[in-house]
Amino acid sequence: MFFCKYDVRLQWNPREKLSKNNVMTQNKANKMWGGRFSEKPSDIMEQINASIDVDVRLWRQDIAGSKAHCEMLVKRNIIPAEDGAAILKGLDQIAGEIEAGEFEFKRSLEDIHMNIESRLREIIGDVAGRLHTARSRNDQVATDFRLWCRDAICELVAKIEGLQNVLENLRQKHVGDIMPGFTHLQPAQPVTLGIHLDAYAQMLSRDKTRLEDCSIRLNQCPLGAAAMAGTPFPIDREMTAKALGFDNPIPNTMDAVSDRDFVAEFLFCCALCGIHLSRLAEEIIIWSTPQFGFITLSDQWSTGSSIMPQKKNPDAAELVRGKTGRLNGNVVQVLTMLKGLPLTYNKDLQEDKEFVFDSVDTISLCLEAMSGMLSSATFHSARMLETAEDGYTTATALADWLVMNLGMPFRDAHHVTGAIVKMAEDKGCKLDALDLADMQGVESRITDEIYKVLSVKK
Ligand code: ARG
Repeated sequence: MFFCKYDVRLQWNPREKLSKNNVMTQNKANKMWGGRFSEKPSDIMEQINASIDVDVRLWRQDIAGSKAHCEMLVKRNIIPAEDGAAILKGLDQIAGEIEAGEFEFKRSLEDIHMNIESRLREIIGDVAGRLHTARSRNDQVATDFRLWCRDAICELVAKIEGLQNVLENLRQKHVGDIMPGFTHLQPAQPVTLGIHLDAYAQMLSRDKTRLEDCSIRLNQCPLGAAAMAGTPFPIDREMTAKALGFDNPIPNTMDAVSDRDFVAEFLFCCALCGIHLSRLAEEIIIWSTPQFGFITLSDQWSTGSSIMPQKKNPDAAELVRGKTGRLNGNVVQVLTMLKGLPLTYNKDLQEDKEFVFDSVDTISLCLEAMSGMLSSATFHSARMLETAEDGYTTATALADWLVMNLGMPFRDAHHVTGAIVKMAEDKGCKLDALDLADMQGVESRITDEIYKVLSVKK
């Protein structure tokens, strides 16, 4: 027997999430395959099996897929036209009910597919059962999910473009603003803020094309694969694929129901984009410290401290950085879930959607937060210039001058420059404040032309 040793115990309800929403449970054997079963599933079985809390987000895609499938069944004389018409009308009614928040989702019906089909039966009667001719939930869910990811990619691409615009505006505004460029976070060489920000725009343009590429590869239609081996009905896979905007049906039906490469790929695209945003977030965090003082975030994008009145914290940037953990984790979740799965469909595959939804929500929020933070931030160009002048950032330019003008091998020029930097350090002055005679003491052939490369502006 385990005794809690703490006096204070708060109520802890592990089923809280499940009991709070309006998902209903039902005390009967499953309606969809009740014929084979005499007992209802155990409550825990229902909980582990049900995905409706998550895949409810696929309802639009599920209805679109069902409509395309139904139209094809009618066209190919697999179901009577009047039944097809009733099914289409019923599906439209269901769409209206879900949209209006009037649809009662039931956990006993497992997932979005069966919730919709069951409601269809309530509305139009037994002809609803004809919709599932020549189809399985296996090709159905794969189709719905590809459609969802395709739309999500369009949304994300638009958000990436939004951030690219913010960066492009900043690039133009700060095209000539000098700042220190860093390696190892040590002042390295002078650059401009425009170029620095443009480097992030370049990363985003790769993120964008990577997503677009993922979308091209996923745009193939699983419908018609049925459970996995196709169907004896004279279906028209080209027709359903075309109606749903897919490029073509997936040729191998076993691959069609079990492939989740697009999920792993999409999650990776989100994760890498998140990594890029977190690198930029890290810059914002560093730049907004009083020690750097390169940037001030607007009040809208800052938070205060509950104890230290002077604080203005870059929480949004820190959260963008912190959220990469979940983006990376989602990739690992799906790869691990897929590892070792034999062909074809296995219920493990149900553990894919939650992570894609989470990654899409997360990266979308991060892209918006970044756009908001950067477009309202103030960059302190004078402070950047001042720091660019510290730290001997023109030393490489000095070495290059020695090579170009005196014909010195670069390694020798590097050595001479090191000695000159040391001299400036000892004198506590900048490179362009050194006397020519002092520099000539290190290398006699240096002329006053050298001053041209010693200022960061040059
Ligand atoms: N909810 C299921 C999923 O997301 C749908 C497919 C169910 N297929 C099956 N054979 N049980 O994967």
